[in-house]
Amino acid sequence: MAATWHLLLCYLLVFSIWFRVDIYAETNSQDAAVLRSLKDQWGNTPPSWDKSDDPCAAWEGIICSDSRITSLGLSTMGLTGKMTGDIGGLSELVSLDLSYNPGLTGPLSPQLGDLQKLTILVLVGCSFTNSIPSELGNLSELTFLALNSNKLSGKIPSSLGKLSKLYWLDLADNQLSGKIPVSSSLSQGLDQLKQAKHFHFNKNQLSGEIPSEIFSGDMSLIHVLLDGNKLEGNIPSTVGSVQTLEALRLDRNSLKGSVPSNLNNLTNIIELNLAHNMLSGALPNLTGLNSLNYVDLSYNSFQKSEAPDWFSTLQSLTTLIIEYGPLEGSMPSETFSLPQIQQVKLGNNAFGNELDVSGNISPQLQLIDLENNDISSVTFGSEYNATLMLIGNPVCSASLNTVFCRIQQLGKPYSTSLTNCGDKTCSNNKKLNPQSCACAYPYEGNLFFRAPTFRDVSNASLFQSLEKSLWTKLGLSPGSVSLQNPFFNDDDYLQLYLQLFPSNGKHFNRSEVQRIGFSLSNQIYKPPPEFGPYYFLALQYDFGDGRGLSRGAIAGITTGCAFLLLVLAALGAYALRQKRRAEQAISLSKPFASWASSAKDSGGAPQLKGARWFSYDELKKCTNNFSEFNLIGSGGYGKVYRGMLSKNGQVVAIKRSERGSMQGGLEFKTEIELLSRVHHKNLVGLVGFCFEQGEQILVYEFMANGTLRESLSGKLGYLDPEYYMTQQLTEKSDVYSFGVVMLELIIAKQPIEKGKYIVREVRIAMDKNDETHYGLKERIDPAIRNTPNLTGFPRFLELAMQCVEESAADRPTMSEIVKALETILQNDGLNTNSTSASSSTSEFGNGKDCRTHPYNDSLPRKDGSESNAFDYSVGYAIQAKVEPK
Ligand SMILES: *[C@@H]1O[C@H](CO)[C@@H](O)[C@H](O)[C@H]1NC(C)=O
Ligand SMILES: *[C@@H]1O[C@H](CO)[C@@H](O)[C@H](O)[C@H]1NC(C)=O
Ligand SMILES: *[C@@H]1O[C@H](CO)[C@@H](O)[C@H](O)[C@H]1NC(C)=O
Ligand SMILES: *[C@@H]1O[C@H](CO)[C@@H](O)[C@H](O)[C@H]1NC(C)=O
Ligand SMILES: *[C@@H]1O[C@H](CO)[C@@H](O)[C@H](O)[C@H]1NC(C)=O
Ligand SMILES: *[C@@H]1O[C@H](CO)[C@@H](O)[C@H](O)[C@H]1NC(C)=O
Repeated sequence: MAATWHLLLCYLLVFSIWFRVDIYAETNSQDAAVLRSLKDQWGNTPPSWDKSDDPCAAWEGIICSDSRITSLGLSTMGLTGKMTGDIGGLSELVSLDLSYNPGLTGPLSPQLGDLQKLTILVLVGCSFTNSIPSELGNLSELTFLALNSNKLSGKIPSSLGKLSKLYWLDLADNQLSGKIPVSSSLSQGLDQLKQAKHFHFNKNQLSGEIPSEIFSGDMSLIHVLLDGNKLEGNIPSTVGSVQTLEALRLDRNSLKGSVPSNLNNLTNIIELNLAHNMLSGALPNLTGLNSLNYVDLSYNSFQKSEAPDWFSTLQSLTTLIIEYGPLEGSMPSETFSLPQIQQVKLGNNAFGNELDVSGNISPQLQLIDLENNDISSVTFGSEYNATLMLIGNPVCSASLNTVFCRIQQLGKPYSTSLTNCGDKTCSNNKKLNPQSCACAYPYEGNLFFRAPTFRDVSNASLFQSLEKSLWTKLGLSPGSVSLQNPFFNDDDYLQLYLQLFPSNGKHFNRSEVQRIGFSLSNQIYKPPPEFGPYYFLALQYDFGDGRGLSRGAIAGITTGCAFLLLVLAALGAYALRQKRRAEQAISLSKPFASWASSAKDSGGAPQLKGARWFSYDELKKCTNNFSEFNLIGSGGYGKVYRGMLSKNGQVVAIKRSERGSMQGGLEFKTEIELLSRVHHKNLVGLVGFCFEQGEQILVYEFMANGTLRESLSGKLGYLDPEYYMTQQLTEKSDVYSFGVVMLELIIAKQPIEKGKYIVREVRIAMDKNDETHYGLKERIDPAIRNTPNLTGFPRFLELAMQCVEESAADRPTMSEIVKALETILQNDGLNTNSTSASSSTSEFGNGKDCRTHPYNDSLPRKDGSESNAFDYSVGYAIQAKVEPK
């Protein structure tokens, strides 16, 4: 019988193998071998890749045609690892999209050049290094090449000039250097890319002159973005021959000489930005550029001049910016009646005389900024309601208090409204879908518009049109898009935070994430025309199955969540007995509230109360390109720099993680959340953070005197004291913060105010490295003892005290805490009348002092009463004996 079974099983096995191979194997064996090798090299490949041996049949991210793999798309999968030469074996591949996988590192494989059929290559937002392999020039079918936002260095290979079908070339936001290659007798160059509409080379370190060959009448360029490089020399006059140009950004270079006079041949131009150069000669004559919306000529060395005629004649102008310019004479009031004008920023010129804003004012006009000019009087009409800034003009020396002589805020930037959802908040990194008010995991990231036609970030109808186009074109449910905190960043890109919500359930699945990621990275999605060229950088997505995120992050999140529930449950149990307590508990749970809810109160992407987003470039700027000169500390975690924020001159300490020590996006978020709880006046605060371009940077208040570590370690309360020694936040750091929060819950009525005292005392005790905090415990405990019907409470307190042990090793683990809390709850439920404090015997071993002390001294109550009420702790006036450092 057994033998028969064996035979049958054996037969079935053989049969099934044969069956699979011969009938279901859809994938060409070479392609399958390549993919298996990629699967071995990369972390976080989709789970479906483990379930079947046949890529074409069942692997997500793969599209096949006649058993050959034609498309490999793994956008935003959280992939880690390197790109090896194996990929070159996918000889029928037409489209390769690995965008938004910052865990992909190392050089690009030269074998990419073997993919002879490739038309689309999208590697945006990864962390690839070294130079662009010249073999990419062999991809003769390529139409779309996006390598932006990586860490690529070296020169732009001239072989890219062979890509004669290319229409999109985006190399922006890397560390590319050297000259822009053009054809010579020896090699081809980018001037041969006659089909190219997009040259996006901005934010690199390109140097030398802009070659005149790159512009010619037979090119099709519409967007030429060379801003943020080290280009020098003159602007070539050939630029005037590219009549197709719509956006020309040459700002933030070292260009000099005068602007070629044939610029006004560019009749299709919409955005012209020449700011931050050393251009001289006359202000360019832009007369006739009737499509021009946005002009910025700030920070150059133009000859002194009166306002040019075109100030009054360019009918499409929305934005006119010439700060630190050469202007003198009178500011023409006609500018303010241009039909579309929104912002006029002409600060730090030498306009004098009278300013006349009494005439026809465009209804869209939002800002006239003429600070630091020489204006001596102003005439208003009744119509005028835009913001006017005249600080630093003679007219303000007499009337300092007039509105226009003070610093003013512009209208609030648009953010998708969550008012439908009332006070609802979401836990655990979920966000509120603005349409359904359901909590879900959005696909999110930063969206950057490099040449928008407008400057007003408060215009709801404009941003709502963007929302609508996003949900329509990306196939999402109406309304399931959230935009937050649009602002013009230091690169003069319009930056905003984008969240896209799943139509069903809490998560997008991998196919959907790949589809959305590709739509954004391959520019399939087109925003409304006012927004112009864009790029998107996705945050890593939480698929809810543990892939795409490190295990640590998931564990942290899960425990954090379990924790929160337990804390709330524990608090709830007490609250049953004391309503007041419950109200308190709710307000106290705020430190754990999700980003979404805090984003709601703060009206935007700063996301966390107090802590704001910084762009990488802003931080780069304020640390002088992370110069060694500003370095104030370093270690395995990365480096700490001193910097000064340009906005308000605040001096900050900037901790920049080294590549190798980076955490997953969500871990980083969790860290920020933790740090942003540190908002006590007497503690070093988190000012903000940066999470873009593969960087993880935290910005702290800067403490002068001594090293950062010394200053910080004396100042921190919520934060694991070991954190500044190790620069690592561990599970035990969470335990510490949790302990402090529990203590706050226990001690305070107004948690922050009163909690501060205990935090301070605990800190001081720790700083002194003595056991005063046990004394503190003694002072609190009597009250607990005097509270007869709270069996579990002493235990709860003791647990909290153990959590704030100075040494991480002495703190309980998360699971021990969970267990202890469960026990407390259980005991409480079973035995609510016991007065015994004996439940303090530890279930977990390593606390230094797990036993309760005898209680002798007790603190006087504020009101002198001996109330047994649950809110016992509120009555204590705990004095901070020692002021914090
Ligand atoms: C591919 O490009 C490299 C370098 O640009 C070149 O040396 C090589 O001959 C090319 N190979 C093919 C097959 O075209
Ligand atoms: C201006 O544009 C015209 C096409 O309308 C072109 O023929 C001419 O060469 C351009 N002028 C300059 C100076 O580039
Ligand atoms: C600017 O250009 C326009 C049209 O080309 C011309 O009529 C005008 O005279 C120019 N202005 C100056 C100040 O050169
Ligand atoms: C200014 O008033 C006009 C109507 O006269 C209105 O359309 C416009 O929205 C107002 N602008 C601001 C910034 O309040
Ligand atoms: C907002 O922008 C739209 C489109 O550009 C424009 O038509 C509208 O007048 C603007 N609204 C305001 C209040 O400026
Ligand atoms: C992913 O979700 C989409 C839309 O909800 C659905 O059509 C598709 O079948 C799902 N794919 C997988 C592999 O579950």
